[in-house]
Order: sequence, then C-alpha cells, then structure tokens
Amino acid sequence: MLEKIRTAPAPIVRPNAAYDYDELVQEDRVHQLIYTDPAIFTAEMTHVFGATWVYLAHESQIPKPDDFFTTRLGLRPIIMVRDAQGQVRALFNRCTHRGTTLCRLERGSARMFRCPYHGWAFLNSGKLQTVPWRDGYACDFDDPKFNVAQVPRVESYRGFIFGTLNMAAMPLTDYLGPISGPIDEWLDRHPGGRVVIREANRLMYRGNWKLAYDNSSDGYHVIFSHRSLLETENRLAEEGDKGMSFYKGRPDDAPMYVAYMGNGHHFKDKRPNIEKRPGALWEIEGAAPGTEHVEGELRRKLGARALEALDLCASEPVNINVFPNLSILGNHIQVIEPLSVDTTNTTWYGTAVVDEAGIWGDAIHDINALRMRTQEQFPNFGEVDDLANFEEIQRGLAAQEDEWVYMHRGLGVPGRIRVADNGVITAPATDEVFMREYIKEWRRLMRTPPQLSIRREP
Ligand code: FES
Ligand SMILES: [Fe+2]
Repeated sequence: MLEKIRTAPAPIVRPNAAYDYDELVQEDRVHQLIYTDPAIFTAEMTHVFGATWVYLAHESQIPKPDDFFTTRLGLRPIIMVRDAQGQVRALFNRCTHRGTTLCRLERGSARMFRCPYHGWAFLNSGKLQTVPWRDGYACDFDDPKFNVAQVPRVESYRGFIFGTLNMAAMPLTDYLGPISGPIDEWLDRHPGGRVVIREANRLMYRGNWKLAYDNSSDGYHVIFSHRSLLETENRLAEEGDKGMSFYKGRPDDAPMYVAYMGNGHHFKDKRPNIEKRPGALWEIEGAAPGTEHVEGELRRKLGARALEALDLCASEPVNINVFPNLSILGNHIQVIEPLSVDTTNTTWYGTAVVDEAGIWGDAIHDINALRMRTQEQFPNFGEVDDLANFEEIQRGLAAQEDEWVYMHRGLGVPGRIRVADNGVITAPATDEVFMREYIKEWRRLMRTPPQLSIRREP
C-alpha cells in the first residue's frame, strides 16, 4: 500500500523556497550557505536523500532470511532486513505507536521486532503482529496504517542495495548509467565477481557531508594534504615509489584522469599509472610491518601465481563515487552519512575476497589477512588528513561575509576537458570539473519539488 507524502504539510514552511539555487551554485563557484545553512540541510534530506537512489547496504550484510542491519536514509533510521520470505526490505526503524525506534542493535537476525516501549511486535515484513492487552483498544488493528512504514523502492546492483522514496525515480541501472562500468570492473577483479563486507573504520567529522563528496575525486590535494602518508610509505620502502607517489611532479601529465559520469557520479581512475603486469600493484603498496611472513607464505604456497594473488591484496587505484553517499575507494566501500549540517559520519567498510570455486585453495586466508592489513592504511593514515581539511573548511566558512567557494580549476582552459558521445566528461587528474558537474545535479534536485512516498504492508 502506497501513501503519497504531502510535500508541504501545513504549517511547515518549506525552507527551500527561500533560496535562489541559481545564485547559490554558479559556473565557477558555490555559496558557503550550501555547506552551513541548516535549512538547506533539512531540504537536502528530502530533495536529495529522499528523491534519488541512496546506497543503503551490501547484500553480504544480510545474507540469510531474517538477517537485519540498521542504517539511515538521510536522517531516517532504517532497518535493512531480508524478511522471512527472503525479500530485502528497508523498514523505517520507527514504531507506529509512539514513534520510538524499534531496533537498537547494529545487526543481527530476527523474525520479529518487538518495540521496547510498550511491546507492540512486528513481523520482519513490517506487519503488526501483536499488541499487548488489545482489549483496551477500540480500533481495528488490521488497518495497514499500524504496519511499519517502508521505503517503497529498494533495488540492488550486483550486491549494492539502494533505496528511494521517489516512485518516479528512474530505474537504478539507468541512474547508475556509465558509473556501472567502473563498478563492474572493480567487482570483476575478484573471483566470482563479488566481495563480502567486513568490519569498518568509523570516522566522524565536524563538517558538511558534501565536503567529503567534493573531495572524493580531488586529485589536486593529494601531494599537499597527504604528505605525511606519502613520506611514511616511502621512508619504509626498500625500492621504488610507493603509494600515491605518482602525484609527485605534475599529476596532470600522468595518464590517470578524472571523469564525470552523469547523475552526480564521478570517477577517479589511477589505474593507467600502473603497468599492466602481475605484481605491479603490489609493488607500489606501502609496507605493512608484521605481514612479511604472510606474504612469504603466499609466495611459498602459490609460486608463480603469487603475484596475481598479491595484486588482489593491494589497493585498487580507483575512486568510484556514486551520488550522494557511496564511494568505492581502493578495496573499501565508504558510506557518507550526514548527521546534521556540520556533522558527518564516514564509514569505511573493509571487503574480503570470497573464493567459492576454490581458485586459491587455502591461500585465500592469507590473501584476506594481507588484504585486511592493506585496508588499514588509508583510513588510518590518509583519511584523517581529509577529515582535518573538512573540519577546517567548516571553520573557515564561519567567516560568512566572504561568501564564495571556488571550484573552477580547469574551467576555460582550452583543450583540457573532453566530452564523449555518451556524455562522460574526462579531464586531467587535478581538474575540478567533476565538482562543478555534480553540484549542478545537486542544484537541479534542490529546485525540483520532491514527490515522495512510503509503503506499508496491506
Ligand atoms: S512506542 Fe512502540 S509500542 Fe509504544
Ligand atoms: Fe584525500
């Protein structure tokens, strides 16, 4: 059963109407208000995090019937559940009695959710099952309005589950469009074309969520912001240039590039910097002290195939950014979670290789052990640099009389930016064209009145 959400329930004033988004988002710059204004943030929760496809969970987090995982859709608390029949649902984590959250655990397995407040119990399909001392009520509890609200559209792309409240949103595969190419390539480097999610690095910063999305294909900052990481990796190196050393010198002359792929998605492809031969990726991986014996084991067990296995442990040099909240970075799945106009969670889920066909034999455990260690590197020693930048931007933007933030690197430079027939825009690695393009999509969404719905079991 679908319920249309009234777009302007009186007496709530639509804060959005107060802004001219053409003024706030210009060709070369954006107004600081888009990062600092609580009313704009509130509007984003419907215009962006209600009306587009938003990444919710990975199928490996709820592999079996009754498995659940709690998350958010914008600010809405959500229980992602594979119900008893195996259907994946995104339930609002909200009791229909008095509105409290039904489930306070991060994950688990449950056929029912019993509200901790007064004990109403709901099947994991969202349907109300029992109400304590029902004889105290005169109402009809078969009315669907007492069933838990849920996200009306939930679709999955190769394990990545997305949801939207917008019944008019295009199909998920159309929404992803060309960015599904890099996602496919990222998955297909693993046996069976899939990964499973493992534990996460959880980092919170005092800054707006878009600062993370602005940065996630930014090749301009690397050599400056991540200097200590690059120095550490290379100080420990016995030979060659490690990590992101290819940013030294003039990164725009390197073969890597940045691409804008439509619907807000952008992609940083550093793979062309690396030679195409087994072991080339592993060679630039920074040292992870204490793992030498695991690498030795792998080489002993696999002989000539070891280099291929070691490449699977090495960080894949891509940043695949799916608007508004999913980034596939190296081997991580990073989720951007807005909490308020100036508070954001970033969660870096590690991923592991599954080898159902037994291609790697028992070496798969060494591969995943080594891969886990390589995935400790960037969130711990690189992401902290980025978060410090985001927090300092937020602090800087408090100087509100200086209104503009620039993103015009590359704009107007002849021959620098290329547009392909399918609309994909590519530019040298340090270009800000991806920021200019995604923020136009953000502007379009902010100007479009969202038509949102929720669903309940009949
Ligand atoms: S709030 Fe859930 S049963 Fe009362
Ligand atoms: Fe960075």
